[in-house]
Amino acid sequence: MTAADGAQRQIHLVAHFPGVNSTTVWSDPAAGSQIDFASFRHFAQTAERGLFDYVFLAEGLRVREHAGKIHDLDVAGRPATLAIITAMAAVTERIGVVGTLSSTFNEPVELARQLASIDHLSGGRVGWNVVTSSDAFHGGNFRRGGYLPYPERYERAEEFVRVAKHLWDSWADDALVADARRGRFADPDRIARVAHQGKHFAVDTTPTVPRSPQGYPVIVQAGDSPAGRDFAAANAEVIFTRHSEYAEGRAFYADVQERLAAAGRSSDSLLIMPGATFIVGDTDAEARDLSREVAHAQISPQTALAWLEAIWGRDLSDIDLDGPLPADEPEETVLRQGQTSTAIDRRAHAARLRERAEAEGLSAREVVIAETAQHTFVGSAETVADEINRYVQGRASDGFVLVPHLVPTGLDVFVDRVVPILQERGVYRTAYESPANPRPTLRSVLGLPAPQPPASLDLAVA
Ligand SMILES: Cc1cc2nc3c(=O)[nH]c(=O)nc-3n(C[C@H](O)[C@H](O)[C@H](O)COP(=O)(O)O)c2cc1C
Repeated sequence: MTAADGAQRQIHLVAHFPGVNSTTVWSDPAAGSQIDFASFRHFAQTAERGLFDYVFLAEGLRVREHAGKIHDLDVAGRPATLAIITAMAAVTERIGVVGTLSSTFNEPVELARQLASIDHLSGGRVGWNVVTSSDAFHGGNFRRGGYLPYPERYERAEEFVRVAKHLWDSWADDALVADARRGRFADPDRIARVAHQGKHFAVDTTPTVPRSPQGYPVIVQAGDSPAGRDFAAANAEVIFTRHSEYAEGRAFYADVQERLAAAGRSSDSLLIMPGATFIVGDTDAEARDLSREVAHAQISPQTALAWLEAIWGRDLSDIDLDGPLPADEPEETVLRQGQTSTAIDRRAHAARLRERAEAEGLSAREVVIAETAQHTFVGSAETVADEINRYVQGRASDGFVLVPHLVPTGLDVFVDRVVPILQERGVYRTAYESPANPRPTLRSVLGLPAPQPPASLDLAVA
């Protein structure tokens, strides 16, 4: 966040447990289990040692498929996000725990109850990454089948968050009286019934969980369309974005700040955090070599083939991956399903890839590597620290959601070598606590304003 005028802006860091889309090199001899809790514990405790704001998990609601079969080249099958973040909270003290949970495929009463519970159990450290989920493939899991038309997904998300906030606000901070003398545990006058009739939800309930330490979880949002950005400007406290290139990051930052002002919110009420990868070496040259090696491990020939097949919509096993891209146009068929990437115009995408391959003299596999496995920050610890700082001071971001390439030890090098440099430069915290804030919540670690309890408990809403 912005410090006092003239002072340096402070950097925020988030640790993303890596997973889908070839981010993790699961086949590396140094890789640990993708499932055992020991991996999640190591990751969370390392991030806490590095004084990160929070540890973060994405969520896929269905195992990805390629050409009608499980996409078996990448991590498939993980415990569920809500369970993992709860367990991570139990083995850490100060760091936040944030999970991705879909507003399209959950219900407010149940999700609000779970999140408020984890906020209590963690001492005010939980956050919710609200996603609308991108495709019908995930919708196939659920009784209603299919999925909502695009405009209705953000409409539902908005109603979801609004109802959830009413639920979280329904117990006044002083509702639990525990008055043994009068034999009263709770004060019913300080607990509201929530009645809501809307387009997407009908709720009539008295929530079972008292108001949590943070009032409600920190609201994070990941989605990039104009509707997604407006939703974030109105509702979110952190945006997780893909815009990790400097100029693009600045444009995104400025765009979101405008939307935030239009929504009547102050510029310091929302943090913008792009996802970023990193490779740290003893020297810049060593890091560049390592980055090339990791990228080739992330994008094996089979992975490159599957990625291209998803664009061309047909079996490409006959092409030479060390030769040029296929010359023909993509077909309409969808070969890969269940990715979190947004839908693309595949003909235009193929044309753009061909242009890049020609301009840079890249083979088919090299194009895939260039498109999907370029690491954001590559260099010595000093170089990586300087680059991250440049983005934050230049308002291309407020910090980064760092995605290492190894489970569970990929974050260690960053915490051991880059964090001390950021601290020396005075742009990164040296403790979670301060005399003024001895028991910080996630929201206070993020430097965000705390939500005020409602003036009135009269919460019946339309
Ligand atoms: C950086 C980023 C991360 C995302 N992570 C997830 C995820 O873990 N699970 C999920 O279901 N959707 C995820 N999404 C997809 C969003 O839920 C959303 O459905 C998709 O981006 C379409 O919304 P949009 O058109 O506003 O971008 C992510 C999106 C972005 C931009």
